[in-house]
Amino acid sequence: MKKTKETIRYFLVVGVLVQLFIEAALAQGTTESLVMPDLKEYRIERSISDQAQKCIDCHSELESGIVADWSDSRHAHANITCLDCHGAGAADADVSVKHLELTKTRISAIVSPKDCSRCHPQEASQYSKSKHANTLEIIWKIDPWMREGMNNAIERRTGCYHCHGSVVKVIDGGLDAVVTNYNEVYYKPMKKLIDQLYEQKLLSKEKPLDEKLEIDFYELWHHEGRRARFGAAMMAPDYAWWHGFYELKKRCMTIEEQAEHLLQSKKAAKIFDVKGTGNDTTQPDFDR
Ligand code: HEC
Ligand code: HEC
Ligand code: HEC
Ligand code: HEC
Repeated sequence: MKKTKETIRYFLVVGVLVQLFIEAALAQGTTESLVMPDLKEYRIERSISDQAQKCIDCHSELESGIVADWSDSRHAHANITCLDCHGAGAADADVSVKHLELTKTRISAIVSPKDCSRCHPQEASQYSKSKHANTLEIIWKIDPWMREGMNNAIERRTGCYHCHGSVVKVIDGGLDAVVTNYNEVYYKPMKKLIDQLYEQKLLSKEKPLDEKLEIDFYELWHHEGRRARFGAAMMAPDYAWWHGFYELKKRCMTIEEQAEHLLQSKKAAKIFDVKGTGNDTTQPDFDR
């Protein structure tokens, strides 16, 4: 009998202990669930403001393509508008001054990762550490063209930066600058040298394109010079730089080397019997 009582008491004690243990565990669970997890914050202003609606209205008449692209996007479906990405603050350096004549709302043509970071902070911070975001730093560290100053700002902008760049500066001017660079840095000095050779009769004006220097000067204008200018106009950095300004540098070396040789030796340049020439020079019958 005594044994049974003891057994019952024993089970009661164990039972109470187990209950206390379970309650403690549950209590702990409740406390844990009260700790707020790191939730994403997407506070989206769903409505489209009057200002933002104006962008869409006017631009759908101007550029239906851009507006159609946008309307198909996830952004449009969440009512993220042109203004959300292109909007600019009063102090922003990239405010489009010209656009203020069209609407009082400040905008910028440049939408940088900083603009995206307003709503996508994690993606923007991951990107900022990537190689893509630091291409300029990478090429600067290992390449002589820029580090040793072997090309100028215009050539870097139309060449290197278009493929590698990530620093955007807003400047006035357009085809910037590329034509002037070509004229002043490459064409005019070479033209002066060629004219000097004609004057000293070291080159002959008798026939065009029958001396090597005449061909070189022609190609400077018609080949790499044209590619540099058109490449910049058509946003083709490979043409603007590698087939353009880079080749211009080489062409100038060739011209300078030959000119120097002629000036020193005072011997006129070799005149070639150019292949495929000596053809009919009578004017065709124009249909008037
Ligand atoms: C009354 C018409 C009109 C309104 C309103 C308008 N735009 Fe424009 N926007 C233009 C015109 C015109 C241009 C220049 C020609 C072009 O790019 O088609 C332009 C150019 C732009 C450009 C390119 C700027 C550049 O320098 O290359 C962007 C970006 C732009 N608008 C965004 C906006 C945003 C965002 C809004 C709303 C705040 C807006 N626009 C409102 C007419 C308008
Ligand atoms: C999610 C952000 C985003 C939204 C929304 C957006 N854009 Fe853009 N837009 C960009 C980016 C990024 C570029 C490329 C900018 C660059 O080349 O530096 C761009 C380029 C442009 C350009 C060309 C600017 C130039 O001169 O090269 C125009 C014009 C333009 N957007 C108008 C609009 C219009 C109009 C809307 C609304 C219908 C719109 N965008 C909505 C991000 C956006
Ligand atoms: C004002 C806030 C806002 C800005 C600014 C913004 N986004 Fe977004 N973005 C959103 C929202 C909200 C979504 C989700 C839309 C949905 O899926 O309904 C989204 C979706 C996206 C997606 C699609 C993701 C997927 O899962 O398919 C990409 C990519 C993206 N954004 C890139 C950008 C880039 C790049 C920029 C800057 C040029 C930008 N966003 C600027 C709010 C923004
Ligand atoms: C037409 C586009 C284009 C132009 C213009 C261009 N590059 Fe490149 N560059 C590339 C590509 C693409 C690669 C990668 C080649 C590969 O890895 O196979 C590269 C590679 C490089 C690398 C090696 C990077 C590495 O991590 O190994 C350097 C440095 C570099 N370029 C510097 C320049 C400089 C300086 C200019 C201007 C004088 C320039 N590039 C112009 C496209 C271009």
